[in-house]
Amino acid sequence: MVLKYHRRLISTSLFIDEIMKLIKRYFIVITVFFLFYLAIINKNRLFPRLVFGQFHLISTESNQTVNVRQSQLYEHEISNGGIITLYDVTQDNEWDFQCPKTQYNEADITDVRICIYDPQHDEHVSGQLNDHGKWEPVVVRSFLRLLRALPNTHVIDIGANLGLYTLLATKYDRHVIAVEPLYDSLIRLHKSIQINNVQHQVTLIANAIGVKHERLALNIVDKNLGASYLSYLDQLAPSDKKLEKLVDEQHGIPPRVLAEVDTITLDDLVSIYPIFFKRAILKMDIEGFEALAFSNASVLFNRTEIPAIYMEFGKLIEIKYHRGMMKKIEEMLSFLKKRNYEPYEVNDINHILYDNWESWPWDVAFRRCDICRCPGLEKLVGSAE
Ligand SMILES: *[C@@H]1O[C@H](CO)[C@@H](O)[C@H](O)[C@H]1NC(C)=O
Ligand SMILES: *[C@@H]1O[C@H](CO)[C@@H](O)[C@H](O)[C@H]1NC(C)=O
Ligand SMILES: *[C@@H]1O[C@H](CO)[C@@H](O)[C@H](O)[C@H]1NC(C)=O
Repeated sequence: MVLKYHRRLISTSLFIDEIMKLIKRYFIVITVFFLFYLAIINKNRLFPRLVFGQFHLISTESNQTVNVRQSQLYEHEISNGGIITLYDVTQDNEWDFQCPKTQYNEADITDVRICIYDPQHDEHVSGQLNDHGKWEPVVVRSFLRLLRALPNTHVIDIGANLGLYTLLATKYDRHVIAVEPLYDSLIRLHKSIQINNVQHQVTLIANAIGVKHERLALNIVDKNLGASYLSYLDQLAPSDKKLEKLVDEQHGIPPRVLAEVDTITLDDLVSIYPIFFKRAILKMDIEGFEALAFSNASVLFNRTEIPAIYMEFGKLIEIKYHRGMMKKIEEMLSFLKKRNYEPYEVNDINHILYDNWESWPWDVAFRRCDICRCPGLEKLVGSAE
């Protein structure tokens, strides 16, 4: 009896010995396979697909395809099959731009430099920044005030343009996910990020935000590059009210189609969140595409606590008679209303009403009064984690 038991023990330990021997013998093979397996499941992270010359953003200044440095842009595949084009801001940038200092009257915002276009090519944003060091001072004041009041709050900057909001937010040590499809603006923002030495605080995405994954033409508005918009909006326009005409009337210069961009959705952004990214202020300025972008935003809003949204609303009112746009605007507003957002003027004083959206001012701030201080409601709930 005892002997038998003993024998079984011996045979068990022999068996384990054999296994250990096998493992030792094949250690290298097993390790290689394991590492191989790890590499496969992290394929996109370890080997981001580099985008070579086929990158299809076109320079507004040279009027031809730009040879993008292969290491500067890479593709991040999302589980839903979409591809986000990430712009690596840690690479060197040898461009030579004019980068004036911003001049906001906030004591703690000094030494922010922002690289601009030649003011003759971009009279509005670059011109104002060049002459006065300011652009949209009222919106900026409200944005900074709110950011100061809300620690641990980061920023999602949709339609970053030259990155004014992005750069200002980094001064408060926040992280920014910035989305901008125009190559000429991206390289300027890249330069600004380097000059201000905030490379580790910005995730820069070279896509446009849309309703799905598709390639759309971008209309460049000469002399006002920040007003560039997706041509898709023109297709929605009633023939007698082409957006071209509106832009033409405003600026005296017809837009030209010069760049093609790949769209991603607001929801896609969640797949590149840094781990600490739980709460963010959303800034949106995408020339009327906002209403369409909100059809795929519920994952983003479920995943992120968004205390406030700054939106250029004026363009939406201008294009409300485009095909289907009225419905899209109303859907967007009901999405926001359902999620407890209250609309305000960006002077941080006047509450406005959802029903009157057709006479809202050019810029609007939506606020979640249960999370952040709303004008007229002297409460500040849950300011810090
Ligand atoms: C850019 O290219 C288009 C089409 O080839 C041409 O019509 C236009 O004049 C060019 N613009 C400039 C500024 O060179
Ligand atoms: C966007 O939302 C629509 C429905 O609202 C859905 O059918 C579509 O698949 C979504 N697209 C993406 C890329 O998530
Ligand atoms: C977002 O959350 C709501 C409420 O919890 C849920 O009904 C909805 O299905 C969620 N949407 C997505 C896309 O996760």
